[in-house]
Amino acid sequence: MNFDFTEEHLNVQQAARDFAQTELLPGVIERDNEQKFPYEQIKKLGELGFLGIMVDPKYGGSGMDTISYVLAMEELSKIDASASVVVSVNNSLVCWGLETYGSEEQKQKYLVPMASGQVHGAFLLSEPEAGSDATSQRTTAEDKGDYYLLNGTKNWITNGNTATYYLVIAQTHVEKGHKGINAFIVEKNSPGVTVGKKEDKMGIRGSDTHSIMFQDVKVPKENRIGEDGFGFKFAMKVLAGGRIGIAAQALGIASGAYELALKYSKERKAFGKEIMHHQAIQFKLADMATQIEAARLMILKAAYLKDTHQDYALASSMAKVFASETAMWVTTEAVQVHGGYGYVKEYHVERLMRDAKITQIYEGTSEVNRIVISREILR
Ligand code: CAA
Repeated sequence: MNFDFTEEHLNVQQAARDFAQTELLPGVIERDNEQKFPYEQIKKLGELGFLGIMVDPKYGGSGMDTISYVLAMEELSKIDASASVVVSVNNSLVCWGLETYGSEEQKQKYLVPMASGQVHGAFLLSEPEAGSDATSQRTTAEDKGDYYLLNGTKNWITNGNTATYYLVIAQTHVEKGHKGINAFIVEKNSPGVTVGKKEDKMGIRGSDTHSIMFQDVKVPKENRIGEDGFGFKFAMKVLAGGRIGIAAQALGIASGAYELALKYSKERKAFGKEIMHHQAIQFKLADMATQIEAARLMILKAAYLKDTHQDYALASSMAKVFASETAMWVTTEAVQVHGGYGYVKEYHVERLMRDAKITQIYEGTSEVNRIVISREILR
């Protein structure tokens, strides 16, 4: 086993760390307060190649591996999870799915602009009545010969308003259950697409979450991804990789909060000495560091399995469950280390605690990921 990073890994990690400090940190509290999408920051991340980290350069990407993606996600998420979720969705759910399963025409037309960061995408699976139970799709795509007619509503869509292209999962043959589901590329400005209200969220408030309505939207036949009926498997494959990205986001939130708690414990004095000299604080910091390291190793293992073309669905769900629970626990402890200061916005840790919660919910709740894990180990 080799635990060393390559020079390329260290470079991408440093580049993401520098970007987070210089571009994401200024204004992060205001963006959270005002629910302001980080437009400028996402544009710059696109120019630097962070929106298509794993995509082949011939399709506009940076041609790096999943480990590089994990390292970048951790660094960006330490500072601004609202920005890093855009990076994660575009890389894992949209670009990876298109590069792996899309046709050459689809790649040229849609992957190139998204991987090169000119625009970004969104992944539309969840519905008002189909969240964890993803096979119960109510959105329909009726086969009309040379096009599909799309009708229905999608919920909780990250990048719902800012995306240019959507990957939409819809039911084509109801009687076939999950085997009748397809995935389509839909242009957001198509007639019949309506963006619903922006969700007023507890965390990742700078990110752009909406419901999306489709009313008689004509989707060209050539915009279906893969064979007829491939849509559900497509969604599952894409989400298995996506969970590595969200696990890395959770890791970043946890390590960001830990670093702040460590710094604060060296500065704040109580009972005549810096609080780092009190065992109550030392044990908290030791437990935080240990949990974070375990989460990091699990995520890197899942990334390694993906990069070496081995089955990674089990490892990615395990990493996501562990890292998201670590993020929730570590951020809560980081607020505790800060005492009253942790409860106010200026010290950042309360935002990280609110942001941590979503990592236990999206791209499969902790409960759904436990279903994936238990099925794999009981098989
Ligand atoms: N790879 C390939 N195929 C897979 C697969 C995988 N990883 N996982 C399942 N499948 C296949 C199964 O083999 C099965 O096919 P066959 O019948 O041919 O064998 C088919 O898919 C159906 O699988 P199940 O019978 O296991 O389906 P299920 O109804 O029991 O549900 C589930 C499985 C794991 C619970 C699934 O519904 C699921 O993952 N739900 C959660 C959805 C989710 O993660 N949503 C997140 C939304 S996106 C998001 O959050 C983005 C964002 O905002 C950041």
